[in-house]
Amino acid sequence: MLRSTKIGVPTDAADLAATAKAADPTIIVRDRRFSRQQLSARWWVGGDPFATAVFNSLSLSFPRGEAYFIESVRVFRDDVDEPLASEIRAFIAQEVNHSREHLAFNRAVADAGYDTKGLDAVIAAVLGEARNRPPIVSLAATMALEHFTAMFAHLLLVDRSILANADPALADMWRWHAIEEIEHKAVAYDTWLHATKDWPRLRRWKVKALLMLVCTRNFMMLRYQGAIELLRQDGITGWRAHWGVLRYAFGKPGMVRRIASEWIAYFLPGFHPWNRDDRALIENAG
Ligand SMILES: [Fe+2]
Ligand SMILES: [Fe+2]
Repeated sequence: MLRSTKIGVPTDAADLAATAKAADPTIIVRDRRFSRQQLSARWWVGGDPFATAVFNSLSLSFPRGEAYFIESVRVFRDDVDEPLASEIRAFIAQEVNHSREHLAFNRAVADAGYDTKGLDAVIAAVLGEARNRPPIVSLAATMALEHFTAMFAHLLLVDRSILANADPALADMWRWHAIEEIEHKAVAYDTWLHATKDWPRLRRWKVKALLMLVCTRNFMMLRYQGAIELLRQDGITGWRAHWGVLRYAFGKPGMVRRIASEWIAYFLPGFHPWNRDDRALIENAG
């Protein structure tokens, strides 16, 4: 089933002077279902244990993480006008579908012999703690993490070699997720702009920047530890495991290195997710 809603350009004049000019894509809810089969190979990303560990570690955080995003944004749903209200609904529908498919994928990872319970428990504990914070803090955290998913999604669609040798059905699932992350990349941000419209600019920036720093530290550290733990279960330990993951992040393909400039952009005046207009990636992803 496909549902869609138009994305409008936010109107908060002060912060958005430099906002994307003509960004007006459509959020399409593609209710797709992917493989429910076993993984075709334990190292399903081209037989590469390090790439596989990085993707598996990311996916393990998605079902609970996306549920948290949904909760964080939904709190503000009743306060906003159109078109943001419709965008939030579409955002929630997309994230629900992503969670479902990554849950199925994570089950396949477990069936391939990985013990994922410990990593899942860590994610549950971190998010449990996050839920004790005020709603506006959760929204700022969601907005920061949505910037991460949008940055990774952009990279995944721009550089198809990253998943070129992966199991095609799984690569398809990750690209579907990437497309929808780009489409809804501004929803949490626009919700934040609306929720904080009466805040002084400096306070707004401080909370936004602080939460980005905290989320970056936690997200990177936890996903890194997740990858190292999965590699340990592959029998790859010590410097070999660390070197392999760090090389993947900062060398080739450079998943972290290549998002650095967009990460910095988040802190600059006038930032808005649609300042980088990557709608063409959605159209070409097919
Ligand atoms: Fe998602
Ligand atoms: Fe998202």
